Amino acid sequence: MTTDQARGPEIRVQGVRKSFGELQVLRGVDFDVAAGSIFALLGSNGAGKTTLVKILSTLLKADEGTATVHGFDVAATPGDVRESISLTGQFAAVDEVLTGRENLVLVARLRHMKDPGAVADELLARFSLTEAGGRRAGTYSGGMRRRLDISMSLIGDPPIIFLDEPTTGLDPQARVEVWETVKKLAQGGTTVLLTTQYLDEAEQLADRIAILHEGTIIQNGTLAELKQLLPPAKVEYVEKQPSLEDVFLSLVGATGIEKESR
Ligand SMILES: Nc1ncnc2c1ncn2[C@@H]1O[C@H](COP(=O)(O)OP(=O)(O)OP(=O)(O)O)[C@@H](O)[C@H]1O
Ligand SMILES: [Mg+2]
Repeated sequence: MTTDQARGPEIRVQGVRKSFGELQVLRGVDFDVAAGSIFALLGSNGAGKTTLVKILSTLLKADEGTATVHGFDVAATPGDVRESISLTGQFAAVDEVLTGRENLVLVARLRHMKDPGAVADELLARFSLTEAGGRRAGTYSGGMRRRLDISMSLIGDPPIIFLDEPTTGLDPQARVEVWETVKKLAQGGTTVLLTTQYLDEAEQLADRIAILHEGTIIQNGTLAELKQLLPPAKVEYVEKQPSLEDVFLSLVGATGIEKESR
C-alpha cells in the first residue's frame, strides 16, 4: 500500500452515474467514508442504494465517475477490492439445510482458512450462536439468521463490510441484536457502509448519514449536523428537537408527495 492509500478515506465515491436504459438511477454521487466509521446511506425504495453497493462491491459497473475502496479503484482493480470487502446482501446467503456451524465451516473452506472448525466456533461465540450452532439454520429466527449471515461475511477479517438493509424484515428485538453486532464491528476497526430506509437505524448506528434522493446525495453529515438543518419547534413552551425523520421528510417529503399525485 502506498502512503496515499494509507492516508485517504477507506471509501471514496466521485461523480458516479448509473442508468438502466432510460432510467437514471445515480446522477453523480459523491461521498467519502473514513476508516473505522459507520456510514449510513439512507434512501427510499428504489433510490439506488443497492445499485451503489453493487458498484462499490464490483458486481456492477458505473457508467461514469470513479470509486475507490481500501485505496483500490473498483473498475481498474476489482480483484483487490473484492479481497478487501465483504457484502451481506438484502437477501440472506444462509443455507437453511445446513447447521449454523456447517454454514460457517463451508465458507471458511471456500476462503482457504487454515482451521475452518476453529474459525466457525470463534464466530459462533462472538455472535452468541454457540448453542444454536448445531441446529439447522432453517430453524433460526430472523435475527439469528441475520447474525449468522453477517458472521459468514466476516470470515477472513475484511477491513470493509457492506450491509445492504441489514435489518429489513426483523422484529424490534432482532434489530437491536444486529445493531449491537454492527457497533462491535466498528469498535474493532472495521469500516461499515450500510444502507437503510429506517431513520431510527441510521440515527442509532451511523457516525455519518448521507441521504440519497433522486440520484444524488442531497445531504451528508453527522446526526447533529442534519438536525441543525431544521430549527427546533416550540410547542407551548416545550422545546421539541427535530428528529432525523423530521429532517428527512422536510428534505425529500415534498418532492415525494408531488410525485405521488402526478
Ligand atoms: N438490473 C436492473 N435493470 C433495470 N432496472 C434496475 C436494475 N436494478 C435496479 N433497477 C432499478 O433502479 C432503481 C434503483 O434500484 P435499487 O435496487 O438500487 O434501489 P434501492 O434503493 O436499493 O431500493 P430498496 O430500498 O427497495 O432496496 C429502481 O427503480 C430499480 O427498479
Ligand atoms: Mg435495495
